[in-house]
Amino acid sequence: MCGIIGYCGKDDAGTTILRGLKALEYRGYDSSGIALANPNGSLSITRSVGKISALIEKTKLNLIASSSGIGHTRWATHGAVNEANTHPHTDQLGKVAVVHNGIIENFETLKKNFSPEIFSSETDTEVIAHMIALEMDSGQNLLQAVQNTLHKATGSFSIVVVSELNPHKIVAARKGNASGLVVGFAKDAICVVSDITALTDIIEHITFLDANEYVEFSSKEAIFYSDTGEEIDKKELQLPFEHSVQNLGQFKHYMLKEINEQPEAILDTIRGRYQSDTGSIYLQELQISSEQICDINRVVFVGMGTSSNATLVGRHYMERFAKIPSEVDNASEFRYRQPILDKNTLVISVAQSGETVDTLAAMDEAKRAGCMQITICNNPGTQTTRIADSSIYMRCGQEISVASTKTMTASMVLMHALALYLGKIRGTLSSETEQQQINAALHLPVALGQALELSNQIEEIASRYHTFDDFLFLGRGLGFPIAIEGALKLKEISYINAIGYAAGEMKHGPIALIDSQMPTIAIAPRDTVFEKMVSNIQQIRARQGKVIALVSHGEKSLNNLADEIIELPEVDPLLSPIVTVVPLQLLAYHIAQKRGLDIDQPRNLAKTVTVE
Ligand code: G6P
Repeated sequence: MCGIIGYCGKDDAGTTILRGLKALEYRGYDSSGIALANPNGSLSITRSVGKISALIEKTKLNLIASSSGIGHTRWATHGAVNEANTHPHTDQLGKVAVVHNGIIENFETLKKNFSPEIFSSETDTEVIAHMIALEMDSGQNLLQAVQNTLHKATGSFSIVVVSELNPHKIVAARKGNASGLVVGFAKDAICVVSDITALTDIIEHITFLDANEYVEFSSKEAIFYSDTGEEIDKKELQLPFEHSVQNLGQFKHYMLKEINEQPEAILDTIRGRYQSDTGSIYLQELQISSEQICDINRVVFVGMGTSSNATLVGRHYMERFAKIPSEVDNASEFRYRQPILDKNTLVISVAQSGETVDTLAAMDEAKRAGCMQITICNNPGTQTTRIADSSIYMRCGQEISVASTKTMTASMVLMHALALYLGKIRGTLSSETEQQQINAALHLPVALGQALELSNQIEEIASRYHTFDDFLFLGRGLGFPIAIEGALKLKEISYINAIGYAAGEMKHGPIALIDSQMPTIAIAPRDTVFEKMVSNIQQIRARQGKVIALVSHGEKSLNNLADEIIELPEVDPLLSPIVTVVPLQLLAYHIAQKRGLDIDQPRNLAKTVTVE
């Protein structure tokens, strides 16, 4: 979480940093701040509670002319959301300013070396500013002061520091594996940002700061250091994607825009990968040999949030087409089980951001065990893609809304492609099935477009249901992951208590909740478990529960049973989750909209979760 930035250049540092913070806002938007170095050396600090727009407003009148500075957008971990806890944090005299992302685990112990009254915040960060200032008072330069301080701190975090003693230089450091930092080289400027999505309009080349590395930079030069203080060479890389302009176009919210982008996004995802004329799947990015593929004895999927829900669909595909025993693990729990892994285990991680801390930790665990690793990601060059042996990109364009939508559909498509690809090599997939699934997948952009046409009907349903405070989502088979995802979307942006369950579990608890005040969303396409879903719906209706049913195109048998019927577009039953999720995204959106909530930046959430 928390977006951090440091900039030294010819441009006006304040404006550039604020622009960078705006691009990093999806990492947290509780409060934000900026520290600019005055040409005479002193630091000018502005902090504001709320979104970056509040900081921009506040700095409007007093943004000093400066060529270097640091900035921060906060997702609170230690201490309430208030101005005192907002970064940058400084020492008592304001000589050193620090922005920080991650957690300093021993901050309470470190604080004991100072008298309590010098602390003006409750954060784990502030002590670092006092420690660096103390080191500098004893004659160390900024780099040495930061190094000595970080040697005493524990945890996994990144910091960026500016000091009034040398206002034209900035030091940034990354401790441990989480909280990545990218050093960007622009014409006449050098900057450091939490991830590559910030300042892409000026950055020409990048390099990544690895664990326990430091960089000291001015507008002209960046020098990298190891933990022991030796200079190290770093390779400069091309920015892995073109700068794309973020704008809402005709839409009110990024979430709605991104939901609507799905037909085109999926067209980009499948382009060149599903080929009907040859009846083959092409995944050139896979760096795994046919022998290795045949040796795979187990697949473990890991991810968090929406990506984790997508992996439940991926497991179906993997078992169905590649016939490999597959399991799904919540990445945050993976390492605590001491999972049994070996070189024939294929770990498939899904993370649209490529930066989710728990997914990275699970991947590290898999790496230690020597597993083969494939990651499915939307952001080139991010941390997951640097750990995995192969990265398959979603090609969705940046997703800005905190609630993931288009990246979930893209990741399900890619797990489908991957399962077909592995199945073919392993000889578990007939060419008829492969051809049929390729044709079905190529129809997805059309089906997604038809799903979007349901928006008006769903908005009407939302107007009848947006005042309910509890919802149950039920699905079976491939409908189950979508039930969980539908509930997650509603929770995330509407703050409604929504639970997703396997429909078979309903009688083991959730049915006790059913009454006229708890509507059920039943995912009931005509597939092999349709009749069982009908029984569930009957049991809910018998208890006065309201039912919104998602049914196959042309299905009329539930018309007298469900309160609301949403007819899904025609799609191959195995691909139905990829389309069924769309009306549930729209339902969550319209309900949140009717409740008047902040859809793109829901309370307490952040798009990229970089702390445990
Ligand atoms: C956060 C976001 C979710 C996202 C999840 C996993 O919780 O709010 O929208 O699904 O992180 O993100 P990832 O980048 O790993 O896919």
